[in-house]
Amino acid sequence: MASTAFLWLNQAGYAALRPLIFRSSAQHAHERIMALLRTLDQQAWMTGVLRQFNQWAFDPQPVQVGGVTLPYPLMLAAGFVKGDGFADEDVALVAMSQGRNIIPGWRSMPALVGPVEFGSFTRWPRLGNPGTVMWRDAGTRSTQNRVGLRNPGARAAAAFLAQNKAHLPPIFGINIAVSPGVDDPAQQQQEVLEALDYFHTAGITPAWFTLNISCPNTEDDPGGHQTEAHTRSLCAAVAGQVQTPLWVKISPGLADEQYAILMRVFAETGVQAVIATNTISQPVPGQPAVTAGVGGGRLHEQALAATIRLQQEKTRHQYPVDVIACGGMLDSASYRAFAQAGAQAAQYWSALIYRGPLAAALIINEDTHA
Ligand SMILES: Cc1cc2nc3c(=O)[nH]c(=O)nc-3n(C[C@H](O)[C@H](O)[C@H](O)COP(=O)(O)O)c2cc1C
Repeated sequence: MASTAFLWLNQAGYAALRPLIFRSSAQHAHERIMALLRTLDQQAWMTGVLRQFNQWAFDPQPVQVGGVTLPYPLMLAAGFVKGDGFADEDVALVAMSQGRNIIPGWRSMPALVGPVEFGSFTRWPRLGNPGTVMWRDAGTRSTQNRVGLRNPGARAAAAFLAQNKAHLPPIFGINIAVSPGVDDPAQQQQEVLEALDYFHTAGITPAWFTLNISCPNTEDDPGGHQTEAHTRSLCAAVAGQVQTPLWVKISPGLADEQYAILMRVFAETGVQAVIATNTISQPVPGQPAVTAGVGGGRLHEQALAATIRLQQEKTRHQYPVDVIACGGMLDSASYRAFAQAGAQAAQYWSALIYRGPLAAALIINEDTHA
């Protein structure tokens, strides 16, 4: 049974802490949190404490979505537990074999918040973009990032998770992104399949795989991956290879017709859920020529519009594809709006920054008592 006193303490504690955290830049604060998670992951007793917090914070509210049973309808979105960046695969593998925690948060975040989508992982490691890549806009409770798919690569990520298999959480997802900068669709497909294969071969069994065809912060235009032909061939190839439920993550701001086409393609290729949406590209504060993906409050309207549109298609054609909302879910009102639009579950990222680590529990609790 969730403890109201614990949730209240958590909310009050984070309200007091937030101004201190916000004195640092978004990027600096994020780096410090990753350093903290790296330490927490190493302490088995700490995992036990975080699990206890999880039990005090969440009431079981099982939900079936996209072929998966979740303990409650909110999940941490991809991009928080995604791992360090590396310039090449050998370096990533050496770092891992020397005992470095290359995916900070892999143990502590699921213990605390429950279901987490790990990644995005690409076939090859990536360092991501240099310089400042994260911002926050507290006035609209938004985040903005151009991390650029920094990650250790699928091979090292799979090997690292395999090394720690005994301590993996009961339910987690793995998000695989298409390789940025690869123009040839056949190679693109091959790299996604190879990435998946590393997890299979390592014996990693997530509850779901997500195919991310919508990252706005790389050398690619994500629109190029979301055409009918490209999406169809990728989804068919991946669905043909994995037994695990397959979800696909798409962009906000697409044309109504494109959402209709994507939903049909997902239904026809065996995709079990669509995550709507990734961030939306907008100019970076003070640098009008540079764009980065906005999440949080400024994304919500577009993510909600996409959710409504996809859900309409699902209902009209009876497609067996669930809609998972993502974008600016920060409180019970935004959560309720997604649920009323028909989303069976929702993901969050920016809520962590504005509501604290137990944001999901606070939102569910507010919703229950609204
Ligand atoms: C710093 C950062 C990194 C992200 N990296 C990824 C990623 O690697 N893969 C992905 O699918 N989404 C990524 N996202 C997008 C989030 O998963 C989510 O779709 C987006 O932030 C919208 O949710 P929100 O409004 O709750 O923040 C990232 C978001 C942020 C803020």
